Amino acid sequence: MISDKIEAIKSAVDEQIAKSEAIQDVQDIRVKYLGKKGELTSIMKELKSLSKEDRPKVGQLVNTARGIIEDHLKRKMEDLKECALENKIQSEKIDITLPGRKPVMGHEHPLHLTRRLMEQSFLNMGFSIVEGPDIESDYYNFQCLNLPEDHPARDMQDSMYVTDNILLRTHTSPLEARTLQSHKPNEPFKIIAPGKVYRCDYDATHSPIFHQMEGMIVDKGIRFSDLKGMLEDFLQDIFGTQTKVRFRASYFPFTEPSAEVDISCVMCGGKGCRVCSHTGWLEILGCGMTNPNVLRINGYDPNEVSAFAFGMGVERIAMLKYGIDDLRLFYENDMRFLNQF
Ligand code: DAH
Repeated sequence: MISDKIEAIKSAVDEQIAKSEAIQDVQDIRVKYLGKKGELTSIMKELKSLSKEDRPKVGQLVNTARGIIEDHLKRKMEDLKECALENKIQSEKIDITLPGRKPVMGHEHPLHLTRRLMEQSFLNMGFSIVEGPDIESDYYNFQCLNLPEDHPARDMQDSMYVTDNILLRTHTSPLEARTLQSHKPNEPFKIIAPGKVYRCDYDATHSPIFHQMEGMIVDKGIRFSDLKGMLEDFLQDIFGTQTKVRFRASYFPFTEPSAEVDISCVMCGGKGCRVCSHTGWLEILGCGMTNPNVLRINGYDPNEVSAFAFGMGVERIAMLKYGIDDLRLFYENDMRFLNQF
């Protein structure tokens, strides 16, 4: 019987509607039953085989069923759309009562911290800070510092040249020459010059880019004892008043006499350990009385004024102050390392 078929279609549709979870499912059901080749549509085609009296009755049955199915599909569609909207609202909901996220606080890099401590110590002693270019001429980097071409001491520094006459400065000492030249002849001054320097070198204690701090005092009657007292004060400021300081004769082309300065080992206090190679001492800087040639080359008269100068590595001071045994840690930006300062 056709009417049984219609009933079967109706309940099959309802069953499938109940199971469907997406809008696409509902559209598929419509095509399957009400579409051009749909199951209910094809029943219409069977009307031809019926008697004249039965045709309108069955036709009406099909149409009513079609109406009911349409209605069910429509309602399901609305439910699904509402449900989708509700999900969207829920998932995009913002709880304005939650506490805000705290931005991570940045802080000073250990090298910057060390540089600032060093600067502060010198500022307290009346020095002023000067700066100069990282890309430097051979003239300021070497010649003005009593290092003429072919001077054997140029080999002490593995320079990075840009052209024959231009290089990345190998030390902050060119600031001595630049500052002398920027003052009136024999004019006294007291400067430090912190900044980056460059050398072809890379291992646990050497980096191709590192930081130095230069210092210079020029005045009438400056003596080696002034240099000794001032550096001792500075080093005790940085490493503590218990620190012992010693001066060892050395050689630099820009100073005469020259010295290297050691401090008592920061790890063992001078008893001898792995860090100080069991000597009890750590080398910390180079210094000396400015060579009269340097004063002359840069327009000062060594018979009128005398000067002293010193230079040291900021990384080396930071490593010793904070007990860091690999300099590469400063440049890797590992937060586990940086957060300790
Ligand atoms: N310029 C030297 C270097 O880079 C360090 C130095 C030594 C600087 C003695 C000075 C000094 O001013 O007097 O190795």
